[in-house]
Amino acid sequence: MNKPFDVVAVVGSLRRDSYTRRLVESLISLSPSSLKIEFVGLSDLSLYNQDEESNPSASWVTFRSRVKRADAVLFATPEYNRSVPGVLKNAIDIGSRPYGSSVWSGKPAAVLSCSPGAMGGFGANHHLRQSLVFLDMPTLQQPEAYISGADKLFGPDGAFVHPSTKQLFLGFLTAFEAWIRRQASPHSSSSSTGD
Ligand code: FNR
Repeated sequence: MNKPFDVVAVVGSLRRDSYTRRLVESLISLSPSSLKIEFVGLSDLSLYNQDEESNPSASWVTFRSRVKRADAVLFATPEYNRSVPGVLKNAIDIGSRPYGSSVWSGKPAAVLSCSPGAMGGFGANHHLRQSLVFLDMPTLQQPEAYISGADKLFGPDGAFVHPSTKQLFLGFLTAFEAWIRRQASPHSSSSSTGD
């Protein structure tokens, strides 16, 4: 069997009972064997300061090397004031430097946003996508994942309240896996014209 794709999940919430984190845990439990999704911790990352680039903190070094060896990145974010939380932006900035050595460059990505509110973090999702363009990360376009009512997704038994949520997550994972595969070998699914 081929080695599964190594995917790091970058989650923009440090909250103990984070809905975003829970959502990623459920994605992990639904993942096909060809995807191995692992959280990368952001809580120890000190604030980015360019002055420290000549002697970067151990937390930056560890974070950069973990992302660097990943095949792909899953960004999962709540929405703070119609954008991403600072903790996520800080991680993105740390990974993007030093200049010319960004660990994000070229890595396939997917974005999932959530909110207890009705808009599912749409603003954060698209604010994040703006950075991913600059970081040159080929990012899954469809299906879009704006998860609304994030506080009501799971019942007391831990199961999805609506079976449609599971279908949505499975569709997202299938598309993301195919997207990573396509980026890894872009010509593998195209048929030859023979000429
Ligand atoms: C929020 N929240 C929020 N929700 C939203 O839909 N749009 C928004 O712009 C904001 N803004 C915002 C700012 C700040 C500073 C906080 C603390 C919260 C509410 C947010 O969606 C909610 O707290 C989620 O529970 C956060 O996600 P986690 O931590 O549960 O993953």
